[in-house]
Parts: sequence; C-alpha cells; structure tokens
Amino acid sequence: MHYFAIKKGWLWCEGVRTVDIAKKTGTPVYIYSHRTLAEHYLKIDAAFSGTEHLICYSLKANSSMAVINSLAKLGSGADIVSGGELFRALRAGIPAGKIVYAGVGKTSEEIEAALKKGVSMFNIESMPEAERINSIAGKLCKKANVAFRVNPDVDPDTHHYITTGKKENKFGINISLAAGLFIRAHKKLKNLNVTGVHIHIGSQITKTGAYVEALKKIAVLISKLRESGLIITSLNIGGGLGIIYSNEKPSTPAEFAEKILPVIRPLGVRVIMEPGRFIAGNAGILLAKVTYIKKGENKNFVIVDAGMNDLIRPSLYDAYHNIIPAQPASGKMKADIVGPICESGDFFGKNRLVPILREGQYLAVMSAGAYGFSMASNYNSRRKPAEVLVKGNKFFVVRKRETYEDLTRGECVPGCL
Ligand SMILES: Cc1ncc(COP(=O)(O)O)c(C=O)c1O
Repeated sequence: MHYFAIKKGWLWCEGVRTVDIAKKTGTPVYIYSHRTLAEHYLKIDAAFSGTEHLICYSLKANSSMAVINSLAKLGSGADIVSGGELFRALRAGIPAGKIVYAGVGKTSEEIEAALKKGVSMFNIESMPEAERINSIAGKLCKKANVAFRVNPDVDPDTHHYITTGKKENKFGINISLAAGLFIRAHKKLKNLNVTGVHIHIGSQITKTGAYVEALKKIAVLISKLRESGLIITSLNIGGGLGIIYSNEKPSTPAEFAEKILPVIRPLGVRVIMEPGRFIAGNAGILLAKVTYIKKGENKNFVIVDAGMNDLIRPSLYDAYHNIIPAQPASGKMKADIVGPICESGDFFGKNRLVPILREGQYLAVMSAGAYGFSMASNYNSRRKPAEVLVKGNKFFVVRKRETYEDLTRGECVPGCL
C-alpha cells in the first residue's frame, strides 16, 4: 500500500506531481510520502492494539530527521544501533524512554552516552558486552535495563545477507546457551536489570511461520528463566516484516499479529517491535533523469543520473525494484537501467521491458524508502542526493543535495606536502 500513483501518465506522490519536484530540486532525489509512512505505522499499531506494546521504528531503514519526526509525532519509539542513531532519534523528538539500543559492537563511549541519556533498554548480544555495560553503569551509579538478543536458529526464507536468526549468523546468543547466560548475568552483574528477551530473525520476511517457530522456542526459554527467579517483563520481537517489491504476497500486520499473539499472550509480557522496511520501504521512491540511451550490440542501456551510491540494494542484494517512467511514455524497449558509476554492479534493473525512453525523461525506482538513502555513500565522489517529504499537496526539501564543498569538508592536506 502506498500513495504513489500514475494519473494520465504522470507519477504523483499524494497530491504532488513528482516531475514538478524534480524540476525544483534536480535529480537524483528521494521522495517520501508522509501519508504512507503514517498509515504503515498506524496499521501495526492497530494490529497490536489489544496488547501492551511499543513500536520502536528501526532508524537504520531510513534515518531522515523528517521521517523520524513524523513517526515520533504518532508515538513511535526508536530502535538504534549507534551513537549517531541515538543522536538523530533524540534530536528528531523520540523520548529516551522509548529508545532501545541493539547491535553487536556497541563501544564504551556509545554505551556511556546511551546510559547518560537514559535509553529504555539495551539489547545485548554477548557476555563481554553485558560485562562492559555492567561496568560502565556501575561507574555512573546507574542500573541498566537489558534484554539479551537470542538467536533462535530458524530459517526465515529470505536473502541470506538479511537472515539474522540462524546459528551461523553473528547475531544474538545461541538459544541452547541462552538460559545459562541470562542466569549468570542476573546473578553476577548487579548493575543490570535483566528483564527482557529480544529476537530479530531477518528482514523482508513475507511469511509468519518462522516467527511462530522462533517465539515458541522463546516461550520455553522464558518459562525456564522465570523458574530460575528472573522477572521477564518484555519481549522484543524485532523487525523484519516484508513488503511488496514486485509480486510478493506478504502477511499484513493484522495477519501477522493474529498468528503470533496466541504464542505471546500467555507470557504476560509487554511486546516491543522494531519495524523498519514495513514503515519506510514503499513510502519512498528514487527519482532519476535519463542521461543517455546507449544502444549496444546485444543490449540497450538506459543510463540515469542516479547510481549505486544512491541506492545500493540491487548491487548488494540483487534486489528487485520496479522502475517506471514519471511522465507519459509509450511503446516498449528492453534495456538495462544503469548508473554512471565505474562498476559493472552499478545497475537498478537488468533486461527490463520499459516504455521507450529518451534523454532528459524521468524514471522512478519504486519502493526505495528503506535502506535507500540510509545506505547511500559518496563513492566516485558523488554528492548524496536531496530528500523531499510530500504531505498532501505540498512538498518539503528535508535534506538538501550535498555540495562539492560538502565532499571535502573535514579533510586537510598536511602542510609538509
Ligand atoms: C535488530 C534489528 N531490528 C530491526 C531491524 C529492522 O528490520 P526491518 O527493516 O526488516 O523491519 C533490523 C534490521 O536489520 C535489525 O537488525
């Protein structure tokens, strides 16, 4: 579901023609629909309305301040994985008490900053990390609320780069070792309140079976922990809800909740969840302009002014994104849609049947709102693109395109050279 639509050949975002945005901001430009973001958040919220819950939007999917702030206004918390995301979440208006902090490699500086700001909970990934948080909390005379991230060893049937809950993945504590570790931490690490269990089994998961399987294992673990005297009050089920990129048929939040809540409800815990892609993915597009049409011996190439530095998902995961013209176009041509970067992996789509395109026309790479700008880089010394938020029939530049000056900011050439 989203609020991008073709009307008489023009691509609109809510009440704004996307080409009008491109004419004002230039391209490439990310365009986000506020209404889509909000409705996705509210759908999850409604699906869990009968259960005590907190939605912590996963900032890594799209950490634009305007996106975070839009969700903060609806009551969202944040799932963060770095000091930078802590900074962004707080600055965008998410209260510290609604922030959960995950990630396998939190540094001492990041832990200290998060404790001082009063984040709600750390999702701990290893015993050394638990010891580190315990020691820093002790120095600050604080008690840290913590959950341990458990790796339930289930296969969520998604791309192997975004599978995170199998035992060969680096994430979480193997389920067979988890009870012992929870109990040791509870007994020995006196500056920790060990009150939660966390899982995150992967991303772009379209079926609920793996969640149910994982949660059944977690329910057994929670009973064991309670028998050993731990007071477990929260269960963080992570993110991972899949979206439609082409012809996927993902479960809706309501179907998802209906399947998993019967396993969770008897545990009497507060549910925390960390959706990223579900909220932001279909709420954004990347708009690019055709620079050249190159006719090869065997192939045609549509060369656009966006590159893998702007949207790396096709190169990194071989991810499929629908690509459509943003203005009226007719006929058909088969082509690879590629960027200007000096890598063969710099493509958005291969062997695509698209309308006949000409130089100067605009193309939209759809479903680019999650893991798009947030994974963008300056490779080939390209400036990061602008970002625009559309609300109704108005649009706002929420991040200016970088300048060439931005590219060298912070660099210096030593005087001795
Ligand atoms: C711990 C954790 N939570 C939540 C998410 C968000 O996942 P998704 O965007 O698939 O909802 C991720 C993504 O990698 C993650 O690692």
